[in-house]
Amino acid sequence: MEKENILNQDTVALDQQTDELIILDQTLLPGEVVHLRLSRAEDIYEAIYKLRVRGAPAIGVAAALGLYAVCRRLPEGDPAEFHREFVRNRDYLASARPTAVNLMWAMDQMTKALEAQGDAPVPQLKEALKAEALRLREEDIQVCRSIGEYGLSLIHDGDGILTHCNAGQLATVRYGTALAPIHLGRERGMNFRVFTDETRPLLQGARLSAFEMVAHGVDTTLICDNMASSVMNNGWVQAVFVGCDRVAANGDTANKIGTSGVAILAKHYGIPFYVCAPTSTIDMNCPTGKDIHIEQRAAEEVTEMWYAKRMAPQGVKVYNPAFDVTSQELITAFVTEYGIVRPPFCDGLKKLFEKKREK
Ligand code: MRU
Repeated sequence: MEKENILNQDTVALDQQTDELIILDQTLLPGEVVHLRLSRAEDIYEAIYKLRVRGAPAIGVAAALGLYAVCRRLPEGDPAEFHREFVRNRDYLASARPTAVNLMWAMDQMTKALEAQGDAPVPQLKEALKAEALRLREEDIQVCRSIGEYGLSLIHDGDGILTHCNAGQLATVRYGTALAPIHLGRERGMNFRVFTDETRPLLQGARLSAFEMVAHGVDTTLICDNMASSVMNNGWVQAVFVGCDRVAANGDTANKIGTSGVAILAKHYGIPFYVCAPTSTIDMNCPTGKDIHIEQRAAEEVTEMWYAKRMAPQGVKVYNPAFDVTSQELITAFVTEYGIVRPPFCDGLKKLFEKKREK
């Protein structure tokens, strides 16, 4: 029997019969398609930390559904005790990964939904958390579709698109951000040539972006991270599309390690560099890229993972930041669910949030 297409699988969902968080375990892709059912805070934390669920929007939605799954199992008695346990579990989940602001944003949304219930009895508090978590999940689909529409207006049938990491459907509930224009264009019979950087050390480009692009019948070429310049120099790339984990108020953008190098190359070759950014990833309380906390990860991800045997000498020092910051002057535009924002970004991002408040 033919395996079901990965694009028909939920990345993040709630089983409404059992109130469990369901995630597609991305550490096993593309070899195995396995869904995990989680309801304990420790397991949800582990799944986020280990990148079983990853990508800024998917992390936010998984944490919201997961927080509900945990709180659903709290005793029905004292509302004050329920509020205390909510805060304890919320802060624990929020600490699983520091850079993707969607995680903190989703936890804030859940907090507001709970606080709006005041002194309501516990069963009502649980229902409010469930409704909010499901709303955030649905909203993510609409936001990504809208980003896809705006992104598609920037490219033409037949274009070569280079992307880094995975900001596709696997990083969101559906469509993705940076890959949403490709998915929407494909639905409309358009053909793009996509170049996916493999994205060392965790290979999100090779394992995930390539997987979902090929599954959608897109002409996809996998390249090692150090081949982007060659591909650009050959004239094969008309635009770069990437996602983001936190955009500062001045436009400086944290995304997967290696993104800033791609932006520098794009500038050199005169190729537009687009950052697809849901407003939930834009942190107006963070003035510049210098204020973004960059997650450092274990040395073994560099020295051992994906190799049959450890490939680096024992005792070597390893530097393994999960993200880097692309300076705002290297970015051509942000593609958001409310439209395209061009420089100057300080002003443009401020206006974007005014537009959001009016809607
Ligand atoms: O460490 P990861 O795999 O969670 O990093 C993901 C990225 O850097 C993505 O580009 C970003 O989260 C945007 S996903 C729409």
